[in-house]
Amino acid sequence: MLTDPLTTDAQDANYDESKIPAYTLPDPLTFNDGSTVASSDDWETRRSEIVQLFKDHVFGAMPARSPETQRVVFKIFSESSIAFRVDPDDLESELVEAKLKEFDIVLGVDGSGKEHRIRMLLVLPGNDTTNTPVFLGYNFQGNHTVHSSKKISLSKVWNRDRECATALESTRGSKSSRWPLGLIVSKGYGVATVYYGDVDPDFDDEFQNGVHPLYPELQGREDNWTSIGAWAWGLSRMVDFFESIPDVDGSRVAVFGHSRLGKTSLWAGATDNRFRVVISNNSGCGGAALARRQIGETVKRINTVFPHWFCLQHKSYNDSVHEMPVDHHMLLAAIAPRPVYVASAQGDQWADPKGEFLAAFHASPVYRMLGLKGLGIAIDTDSENVESVQAPKMPVLGKRIGDRVGYHIREGKHDITRYDWEQFLSFSSRFLR
Ligand code: GCU
Repeated sequence: MLTDPLTTDAQDANYDESKIPAYTLPDPLTFNDGSTVASSDDWETRRSEIVQLFKDHVFGAMPARSPETQRVVFKIFSESSIAFRVDPDDLESELVEAKLKEFDIVLGVDGSGKEHRIRMLLVLPGNDTTNTPVFLGYNFQGNHTVHSSKKISLSKVWNRDRECATALESTRGSKSSRWPLGLIVSKGYGVATVYYGDVDPDFDDEFQNGVHPLYPELQGREDNWTSIGAWAWGLSRMVDFFESIPDVDGSRVAVFGHSRLGKTSLWAGATDNRFRVVISNNSGCGGAALARRQIGETVKRINTVFPHWFCLQHKSYNDSVHEMPVDHHMLLAAIAPRPVYVASAQGDQWADPKGEFLAAFHASPVYRMLGLKGLGIAIDTDSENVESVQAPKMPVLGKRIGDRVGYHIREGKHDITRYDWEQFLSFSSRFLR
């Protein structure tokens, strides 16, 4: 029988807290030159430093944002009406009307003659809404997997032989449990999704395909533009697109993602402050989890199996993660003062739920400095019990905590569930309304 290297690695990884090496986290509130971030006036400067550190050492450079040269043109591919049950498992539940729109969006660079096409599925509440706040996130296997409706076109997807072909009809709606569209639309929000492989196919081809050929100058360097960097950049281009259509309110976009796409949503949120709310689900190593804990998936393992996700410089920390000038609480902090949500699953130890929670905890002092409440766990700074200050207790299962930094851990495996969405919706409502 063939052994799946992913499963074997996950089984062989360390899950023993007592084997975590002692570590000290870099301080998001200390400038690179060692001086202290004294007031909220300093924060934007320090925030830019942190984003730059993540570009240099983790996710790589991004194309400079230039509305003059970056073109986003689009055409409507299809438009139809639909109705969803708020709870598809309950045929008595409310039926909500919605609109489905598919757009072909062309990303291009003026003067270069190069362009790249992606297809977005936009689900809007009601029949004629404008200025809708939306949840924007990639899907893993094609837009047609988010719902069984035949009104959604089958995506062209990259298969394991790395060929791009039209997806099979049988995969329609196969991931609908992750996309409770009726619930989301019933609260007045839209949902926008793009197949992530449309922006960059997820395999190591030394950045020959996807959007990478648009900016070849960003390759062949230590801070090369990576796949996570490309997916995050793509999300920003989708906000450019929203800003040009009446259907969506481009200033009320919550970006979300699961797993590798949760790493991506955090990076998009840090690099583009137009995202009003940022949500990561089970994002783990390279996402919300603290790298220095080296429990579950490690920096070395992720760099080895997914070399295209992170920049060359990141590989230099494979055996010396304590030397990274950042850790991932700073990725969350780089989103401040905007709200950020971290979701974990108890059965997803590979993603280190405790490390995800601790990152949210250690990002919170930044919010406090800004006069806001982060995770909102009271810390007794006079306490002599250093342990309780540095290692707060894990929140109980199935209970959301936090204010501008939100967190929950639920039972169950690595996945996005209706429960997760209920939390995202209620956390975001304060900021999107
Ligand atoms: C692998 C990988 C994780 C990633 C996950 C996913 O398990 O090791 O880092 O989050 O895939 O994206 O599903």
